[in-house]
Amino acid sequence: MAKIPQQLVEEVRERINIIDVVSPYVQLKKQGRNLFGKCPFHEERTPSFSVNEEKQIFHCFSCGRGGNAFSFLMEIENMSFPQAVAKLAPQAGVAIDDSYLNNQTNVQVDSETKALRDLYAEATRLYHHLLVNTDSGEQALAYLTARGLDESTIDAFMLGYAPEGNILYEYFQTQKIDYQLLRKSELFVEWSDGSLHDRFTERVLFTIRDSSGHPIAFSGRKLTSDDDVPKYVNSPESPLFNKSSELFNLDLAKDTIKKQKTVILFEGFMDVIAAFQSGIANGVASMGTSLTIEQVQQLSRLADKISITYDSDMAGQKATKRALDLIAQHSRLSAQVIHIPDNQDPDEYLRSNDADAFKQVLTHNIEDPVTFNLRYLQIDRNLNNQTEFFTYISDALAVIATVEEPVIRERFLRQVANEFDLSYEALQDQIRPLLLQRQARQPSKHQHDQQQKEISSSSQVYTSNVTVKRNVSRIEKAEQILFAWMLHDNDVWLQVTNYVGFSFQDVSYETLFMIAMAYREEYQQEPINDMAAFMDYVQKPELTRILASLAEIDPQLFTDREQVLAYINVINNEAPLEEKIRQLSRNIKEANRLQDHGRVAQLSVAYLAALKEKQNKNTKH
Ligand code: UTP
Ligand code: MN
Repeated sequence: MAKIPQQLVEEVRERINIIDVVSPYVQLKKQGRNLFGKCPFHEERTPSFSVNEEKQIFHCFSCGRGGNAFSFLMEIENMSFPQAVAKLAPQAGVAIDDSYLNNQTNVQVDSETKALRDLYAEATRLYHHLLVNTDSGEQALAYLTARGLDESTIDAFMLGYAPEGNILYEYFQTQKIDYQLLRKSELFVEWSDGSLHDRFTERVLFTIRDSSGHPIAFSGRKLTSDDDVPKYVNSPESPLFNKSSELFNLDLAKDTIKKQKTVILFEGFMDVIAAFQSGIANGVASMGTSLTIEQVQQLSRLADKISITYDSDMAGQKATKRALDLIAQHSRLSAQVIHIPDNQDPDEYLRSNDADAFKQVLTHNIEDPVTFNLRYLQIDRNLNNQTEFFTYISDALAVIATVEEPVIRERFLRQVANEFDLSYEALQDQIRPLLLQRQARQPSKHQHDQQQKEISSSSQVYTSNVTVKRNVSRIEKAEQILFAWMLHDNDVWLQVTNYVGFSFQDVSYETLFMIAMAYREEYQQEPINDMAAFMDYVQKPELTRILASLAEIDPQLFTDREQVLAYINVINNEAPLEEKIRQLSRNIKEANRLQDHGRVAQLSVAYLAALKEKQNKNTKH
């Protein structure tokens, strides 16, 4: 299936008005140059969602989402890019052939992917057949039945059984499937003589499907209680299976997740399946590893909230802590923790209680992240020991300081005061410096004048640790303003690009910088004044968000040209050397990925210089 021609996309974009696209979802009110309303992507009381008609872009101050009319539709209707273009085409009076839309999910699928998908579909069918229809699967079927799964669940999840021997390999031999394809599929292990052998034997198979429902991997559970064999054997990564971005059951769960705006995150496949069988259809699990940022990003497109429902054992609590921290970095999603009683995992709980009891747990045994963290900090600590107790209190205050709302913060402070019979005022005194540090690191997005002053003057700081953080936020601000200025003013663009050894610290800005270079060349647009068009070129939502936030920067900041050098100096000189080296190496990787060889060479010079600087420092000490 072909891509929609660029020219048609441009015609649609130029003829529609983003206000007409957004209006059905958001009540907009004119306020200054922009229109404002309550962001449709999350709950809020005061409007932080803005639409800039002149630039044809939207941006939410609160969740950071932003983009053009197409990105808005993609996000709110969970559409693909061509779907969004096609939806707006009639309004723009542009005719778009249906053929661009047919078979959405097969967009640009190459022949190898298709062949591998067919292979997995065949393998899934064979394993499922062996499980439900043959003698060899009898024991496995009995095992699953004993674990409470009924026939329709076993079918819905395409569960299977891999018997001993080499049955899958032999099956594909009869069909004369190409050896290289079989190798790539990772359905087999390759011996040193190059021969292939079934990877899964004598195991119950959980079929892992991608978000469109294609089988792409398996996880095989042992049937014995033999401690010497691993409980689960998982498919390694393959051209179809990228472990860190897939989520088990996302295909079946996504509609419910979108409707309920909540996703339940389980630890194990069996938890997801057991919950599904009792009518809880918005459960997913990560792939036997800890949650990744890619997975969180996927979920944030569907849900507002993640309910972490891991096992209540220590491993589960640790994994919960990691997941909470990861989600917290991803500001938009809220998280909560479900506590399963009696030290059980969700699947065990469901077997010893009924579905209603489990639903009760999901709605009642909820901990907010702060409460979880305060409890988590107590684990393995002897609070009767003075030193450990003081460490606990200072850790607890650090957690409470992350709470934005003063009223809620006060509630937690009082709770800690009561729990340990401490004075509320003393706790307040002790938390104050933490709050000030946080404020210094996260200035309000509206205070650009303030930012300006802060960047020009260097402020006194207390400890080295704080200095590092303070510098990082100064660098962030400098990068934000400088990049916006470069897009806005061609002279500044030239000044920065001609500055030898300059690179952005933040890989997102560096990536945008490289994309902007390519775009300016391709479209001869210098400076880039059609932001909405540039956003289509950039496409990635995490990057269009940044572009939308740049459009909010007060152009007043772009007057004093001497500031350009000041920003360059902040970015180039204030990052701790270690961090700078790490960032440069990331930027080089990104430039390699974008095949920008000129940029790779430039960055490599800066990278080597930084390494040398570090060496000099080390020999001095
Ligand atoms: P658990 O050990 O909690 O398994 O591991 P479980 O889900 O309760 O499995 P059952 O109920 O005994 O069958 C949680 C998850 O960690 C991964 C799997 O994804 C599992 O679902 N895991 C566990 C592995 O990948 N390999 C292992 O050897 C064990
Ligand atoms: Mn279990």
